[in-house]
Amino acid sequence: MKKNALAILGSPHANGTTAAMLDLAIHKAEQLGYAVTKIKLYEKKIAFCTGCRTCMDTHICIHKDDIQEIAVLLHECQLVILAAPVYWANVPASVKNMFDRLLGTAMKETDTFPKPRLQGKKYMLLTSCNTPAPFSWIYGQSRGAIRSMDEFFKTAGMKPTGKVVCANVKRKKELPKRTMKKIERCLK
Ligand SMILES: Cc1cc2nc3c(=O)[nH]c(=O)nc-3n(C[C@H](O)[C@H](O)[C@H](O)COP(=O)(O)O)c2cc1C
Repeated sequence: MKKNALAILGSPHANGTTAAMLDLAIHKAEQLGYAVTKIKLYEKKIAFCTGCRTCMDTHICIHKDDIQEIAVLLHECQLVILAAPVYWANVPASVKNMFDRLLGTAMKETDTFPKPRLQGKKYMLLTSCNTPAPFSWIYGQSRGAIRSMDEFFKTAGMKPTGKVVCANVKRKKELPKRTMKKIERCLK
């Protein structure tokens, strides 16, 4: 059966560290037989979520912009690879806004716990930050970004295949071998 992967670049830098991490993961996914669609979030026109909550019933946002394309790609794929740099110990606003706009695509509210709407799919998380390890994790920098991304995918019912942090990027000219190996291992 054909396997699809959706690779999302949540960094404004198409040639930065986060993009290098994503490109390596894409390469690995392709070796494993995935047909990969890559989207650069910063090139997409996605308005802010207005909090209307209509998507709880429609399963998809009623506002017509590039979020529609992303929702369709999410449904069609078996694996999502999301790469986003750490901004203020969280994800960049564009990534957070994508999550907001996908509320009803990802889950249904109930009186108790949310019901997932994207079960059976896998996700992989990649992030980079300036704070050196282990402080990036201890002080919640990369941990904050990973937590935020995890929240979306876990609530959607998806299963993690791996999470990779590249810390201290200011001082790195290329991806460290250790980071490269970790990314490759996640997709075995
Ligand atoms: C608005 C902004 C906020 C940032 N916040 C943090 C932060 O909280 N912690 C941190 O370690 N690095 C922070 N950084 C540094 C980025 O994480 C770093 O530049 C990024 O990993 C580079 O990825 P890129 O090559 O994809 O741009 C911030 C950068 C920007 C532009």
